[in-house]
Amino acid sequence: MCGIVGYVGQKQALEIIVAGLRRMEYRGYDSAGVAVVADGKLEVRKKAGKLVNLETLLGADPLPNSTTGIGHTRWATHGGPTDRNAHPHVSSDDRIAVIHNGIIENFQSLRAELESSGVILESETDTEVVAHLISKALPSVDHDLPRAMQAVCSRLEGAFTLVVVDSEQPDLVVGARRNSPLVVGLGTDGNFLASDVAAFVDHTRNAMELGQDQIVILRADSVVVTDFSGNVEQAKPFTIDWDASAAEKGGFDLFMQKEISEQPKAVADSLLGRIDESHRIKLDEFNLEPAIIRDLKKVIVVACGTAAHAGMVAKYAIEHWTHLPVDVELASEFRYRDPIVGPDSLVIAISQSGETMDTLMALRHAKEQGARTLAICNTVGSTIPRESDAVIYTYAGPEIAVASTKAFLTQITATYLVGLFLAQTRGTMFEDEIRSVLAELNDMPSQVDLVLDTTEPVQKLARKLASARSVLFLGRHVGYPVALEGALKLKELAYMHAEGFPAGELKHGPIALIEPGIPVVVIVPSPSGRAVLHDKMISNIQEVRARGAQVIAIAEEGDESIVPFADHIIRIPAVPTLMQPLVAVVPLQVFALEMARERGHDVDQPRNLAKSVTVE
Ligand code: M6R
Repeated sequence: MCGIVGYVGQKQALEIIVAGLRRMEYRGYDSAGVAVVADGKLEVRKKAGKLVNLETLLGADPLPNSTTGIGHTRWATHGGPTDRNAHPHVSSDDRIAVIHNGIIENFQSLRAELESSGVILESETDTEVVAHLISKALPSVDHDLPRAMQAVCSRLEGAFTLVVVDSEQPDLVVGARRNSPLVVGLGTDGNFLASDVAAFVDHTRNAMELGQDQIVILRADSVVVTDFSGNVEQAKPFTIDWDASAAEKGGFDLFMQKEISEQPKAVADSLLGRIDESHRIKLDEFNLEPAIIRDLKKVIVVACGTAAHAGMVAKYAIEHWTHLPVDVELASEFRYRDPIVGPDSLVIAISQSGETMDTLMALRHAKEQGARTLAICNTVGSTIPRESDAVIYTYAGPEIAVASTKAFLTQITATYLVGLFLAQTRGTMFEDEIRSVLAELNDMPSQVDLVLDTTEPVQKLARKLASARSVLFLGRHVGYPVALEGALKLKELAYMHAEGFPAGELKHGPIALIEPGIPVVVIVPSPSGRAVLHDKMISNIQEVRARGAQVIAIAEEGDESIVPFADHIIRIPAVPTLMQPLVAVVPLQVFALEMARERGHDVDQPRNLAKSVTVE
């Protein structure tokens, strides 16, 4: 949610910043803007709409050379997506330019204070107040920008990443963070600040995590971190374990296509090094004492969107393997009731970005109640893993398309490893049982590969059905979260009404939605896994067909019993029941992508959305 880049060094800042914004546009694309410091002056260009509009403006009205600058790509919160509300925002004396991600909750009182002192605010944003406040604070701190930033940040409530430049201190970029992401890139020709390492991975793989309530003072050859009172603090260095090519399209038209195709590797990478020679699970990062694991009474998964669907899949497996009850909670709801959570609960926060504010807040609430916390996350150095007792990283590589794909598969993989690890430690499974599940998991990359080889009929079908008004998805058992995920993909990409239901629930109300011709996608359970589920699903299919639905069955190879009941069959490999989500979701991803394309939508950057949702 909003992408931020800052650079100070020996190179031309603008090129670096625009390239960084391109990499971070997935975070928000309502407007984009840049500011550079040149010849003792701030030069700002900003434009509503996607980055390309800013690039056109920069072509028509170029910026002077400069080696210090900042850039922003916006997901609007306060104020519509207009040129005026685009960042950077500049103080009335044209001295300070600021970019911001997050929400400043007390901006109204700050705005009133500024207005009563005669300041005229140009925009409707919460951000602009910061530019004016910093400029006003400077004289009282000997014009020291870091000190002015410290003073102003101490007055702000809410979540913010702020990055500022000062026309009178051209060798300096200052950043601050509270509850919102900001990482430092340490280069040889200069240093970087960004919401995400993707913005600077082209230039350096050496990075630094920032902690909560920290200020970072960036010069071409130095980086100093302080708290909001000016005390110097240490920041944790880390190395980015992927290179710039991983954040590029690599020959695909769309990031989503590339990311779908990367799923076999992503699953394989997430398993790598986590099974030892004697086929036992080793999760060195899951550093909870065995005694604590044995004393756990429940597991609670907190997550949002696709990550919550991965948690719902995991519930079936973890309960089955560990005999521990597993609750899956939408993170945005969790702390607003009185969840039963305490020291004998393991709270697993699943998040691709590691920055989702709802999930972070749920995690913090669980910690306050004394729960043990584990993050399952794809972004090294992000806030959720940093604030958890333990972390299992998924190794999906950067996920740029807003619609989550490879993150889902790797989140399921990681939660399965956690479930097996709990079972191993608690002694609820025999070693050979664990070994056989691990063998099934190890086989999944090649099974997903098989699905990817046969997506042509799915694409054709999507094109054929692209004018449908509504699509329903039915599943049972682990197929139910897959149905939810299929519907979510279609909503966010094709802007189409889509709902996922547990197939058995249909007759309790939703069946009224069935009208002649409506496409109903059914995730058919394996007839050899849980035969009873398969039979029940056939009955549910008959119920919707009797009312005129056209049925698209996602069914395993060799399941001939489905043939008489389906209008279209999409085949997936026959795999054990708990593994089926990993193959069944792939055609649904392809289906949604293709429908969105057919309907003329921007697949990688769907309307109204942003990749990383850092506001509640
Ligand atoms: O980064 P996170 O995994 O915490 O994100 C959670 C959701 O915002 C995310 O999965 C969202 O639902 C996706 N856009 C769905 O494709």
